[in-house]
Amino acid sequence: MSTAISPTAYNYKVVRQFAIMTVVWGILGMGLGVFIASQLVWPELNLGLEWTTFGRLRPLHTNLVIFAFGGCALFGTSYYVVQRTCQTRLISDSLASFTFWGWQAVIVGAIITLPLGYTTTKEYAELEWPLAILLAIVWVTYGIVFFGTITKRKTKHIYVGNWFYGAFIVVTAMLHIVNHASLPVSFFKSYSAYAGATDAMIQWWYGHNAVGFFLTTGFLGMMYYFVPKQAERPIYSYRLSIVHFWALITLYIWAGPHHLHYTALPDWAQSLGMAMSIILLAPSWGGMINGMMTLSGAWHKLRTDPILRFLVVSLAFYGMSTFEGPMMAIKTVNALSHYTDWTIGHVHAGALGWVAMISIGAMYHMIPKVYGQKQMYSTGLINVHFWLATIGTVLYIASMWVNGITQGLMWRAINDDGTLTYSFVEALQASHPGFIVRALGGAIFASGMLFMAYNVFRTVRASNPVEAEAATKIAVVGAH
Ligand code: HEM
Ligand code: HEM
Repeated sequence: MSTAISPTAYNYKVVRQFAIMTVVWGILGMGLGVFIASQLVWPELNLGLEWTTFGRLRPLHTNLVIFAFGGCALFGTSYYVVQRTCQTRLISDSLASFTFWGWQAVIVGAIITLPLGYTTTKEYAELEWPLAILLAIVWVTYGIVFFGTITKRKTKHIYVGNWFYGAFIVVTAMLHIVNHASLPVSFFKSYSAYAGATDAMIQWWYGHNAVGFFLTTGFLGMMYYFVPKQAERPIYSYRLSIVHFWALITLYIWAGPHHLHYTALPDWAQSLGMAMSIILLAPSWGGMINGMMTLSGAWHKLRTDPILRFLVVSLAFYGMSTFEGPMMAIKTVNALSHYTDWTIGHVHAGALGWVAMISIGAMYHMIPKVYGQKQMYSTGLINVHFWLATIGTVLYIASMWVNGITQGLMWRAINDDGTLTYSFVEALQASHPGFIVRALGGAIFASGMLFMAYNVFRTVRASNPVEAEAATKIAVVGAH
């Protein structure tokens, strides 16, 4: 063991900032989700104002939950994981701080511009060009901080979690920059550089890989660090994790056309998207199994540890949605599911069950560590949160499955004379009970976030951040 003193401790300040904002944006984004879900039950909640209509608030919901909530969770945990697994401080405090404030500025920009109706109209890429440019600058800086830190690591190899985070950072930059190529005609309006079917193809190459790399690969990076840590077991198979990584990133990038079945896209492209989506089941389940099996010999911990429960149940939902997705990518299944609430159910099985649950579990593990505490203020409240999140997710997705299949079947029902059996409004009326259950499930899920906020608040109030960082100094020295 060398006696050399490490020059500094880890930079936990930026991790703390992102962690707190994960909770704040989680509450706002999911709260808004409950509001728009309620608008579908009670249309009066559109309030007769253009700024508060479903059409304008829906993209704000997706931006807040994916980029604000999910994004802050990914920034915060990746900065935490990269420092701990490389045993070195972030390469630059000021650049890391810039990514925090720049990212918050993009989100505030979204909160202002989307309700005002400024949008590119491309789903998940709605932000107009000045905000898109700011986002690109922040993202490239993020890449510099992350990969710069990896280059000055004190460990020999690069832990697999960092491979996943790294792919998520590189591919997100590529997708965002290519899909946002556009011609500005004013400060708030631009037109896509691509036309017609090419534009649609590029948009869903972006859209699907936003799912594949933002909502999946990044969170798998989180999984590979926090599941073994919380279970206090090494990852089940390191070899499988490497196969999982290369197979996942090689396949995901081809699956985008499954969003454009039966459109003007060439038929071969649709079939390619379908085939790649089906093969994608294998690496997805490989990853899920690797995470689950990490608990071998530690299953009993689930009885007492609600944080581990969050992490394991998130893997179960990941497995479920990555089984459902390939199935929906089959053209004949998609003919029934497309445009219906089935898609919405699939989205939220992934979004609530996987993305939100793994992030919440990771936060409960990480927040005490970066605030110099042994554990969260209340394990009981984490347990309450766990049940609210699980029940909320199940109500949400079950109601959307029922609605989706009902809608699909009603829309395609045809009388003997070739006319439609049901009008669109009749299918809408049949969906109303499902909308109520979804709003209820969403409200239950979102209420869990309030318990989290209180628990985090009490943990932070009793905290000692200086001690948290000093402890890492010892850890770094001790590791030599
Ligand atoms: C309390 C929790 C939530 C509720 C009540 C909720 C509600 C909703 C509603 C009502 C819609 C519009 C559905 C429609 O157009 O028919 C929607 C869309 C969407 N939400 Fe959520 N949401 C919640 C949480 C989340 C989270 C945490 C994420 C992501 C991490 C997410 C991602 C999305 C996405 C991607 C869409 C667009 C789906 C599509 O276009 O197919 N939501 N949500
Ligand atoms: C092997 C994995 C997966 C495959 C093959 C897959 C496939 C699909 C398919 C076929 C659709 C419906 C497209 C349509 O009819 O318009 C879809 C929609 C969607 N999926 Fe998945 N899925 C997978 C995993 C996931 C996961 C884990 C998440 C979330 C974390 C997710 C999020 C979404 C979203 C947000 C949409 C809606 C996109 C939109 O229309 O706005 N998917 N997926």
